[in-house]
Amino acid sequence: MIGPASRSLGEKICLLTGLEKISVQTKEFPDGEAYVRLLEDVKGVDALIVQSLSPPQDRNLMLLLQLISAFKTNGGGVASVIIPYMAYARQDKVFLPGETASAHLIAKMIEAAGADRVALVEPHSESAIQGFKNRIVIDVTRSFAKFYLENGFENAYVVAPDKNAAARAKKLAEMIKGGFGWVEKVRDKETGGISSTEGELNPAGRKTILIDDIISTGGTIVEAMKLLKAKGASQVSVACVHGLFVGNAYDKIRNAGASIILSSDTVENQYSNISVAEDIVRALKEKNWL
Ligand code: R5P
Repeated sequence: MIGPASRSLGEKICLLTGLEKISVQTKEFPDGEAYVRLLEDVKGVDALIVQSLSPPQDRNLMLLLQLISAFKTNGGGVASVIIPYMAYARQDKVFLPGETASAHLIAKMIEAAGADRVALVEPHSESAIQGFKNRIVIDVTRSFAKFYLENGFENAYVVAPDKNAAARAKKLAEMIKGGFGWVEKVRDKETGGISSTEGELNPAGRKTILIDDIISTGGTIVEAMKLLKAKGASQVSVACVHGLFVGNAYDKIRNAGASIILSSDTVENQYSNISVAEDIVRALKEKNWL
């Protein structure tokens, strides 16, 4: 079953697996409420339900909840939910008194709707997904490595714009047989402002790839790029798994001198140029979900 936020990725998963699609009608009432109706009998059928929580997050979350609930309340079998991008994952704990860990709330809602198991593509953190009892995480580094190897970035220097993102950068570096480093990022919890200082960096004269999980406003990436350029990187390509590109973020990164900007179809928009369909299908097969 393909949700409206993951049409292109869902179609690719169907092509790769040969699975049939369950037709779904969605619409919006004049007052803004969302409506979902399954157009096929799902009694006794197991399904993959693919729906990203990309912007508009709250609408896409509601549609996902309705899809799962419609499937289960109409007699559907096992509901395996694929969440390409998990929204609210950065609020994975209470940072300031009075907040709530929104990520945990999302997990409760999705399970309450009837999800039997959940697969998430590189969610922001492990703590963000701890509320899902039956879950798997899908790593998509291989698809990025494939692109870079096919486009002259073998042995490039891979940098994480934040120490928390270092594991992904290190994995990519190993796959393309390159070097690896990171930038130290500090974010003000009240204002959200970012400052980046040198962590472990040696990009001088090297083709560099700067990779993060999410690009939202582009602030993190642009700050890290300034450091890389100041330290003599010969070229900087920017990559992220989930490209939200809020406002003029894409242009900001381009204007800061990025040679190539990659983002995947976990968030489907005009900038997504890498598909993670193969990674998803491979992971589902490995876990015997297919
Ligand atoms: C934060 O911890 C994430 O990993 C990203 O670095 C962050 O969400 C990027 O946001 P922005 O593009 O607004 O700096």
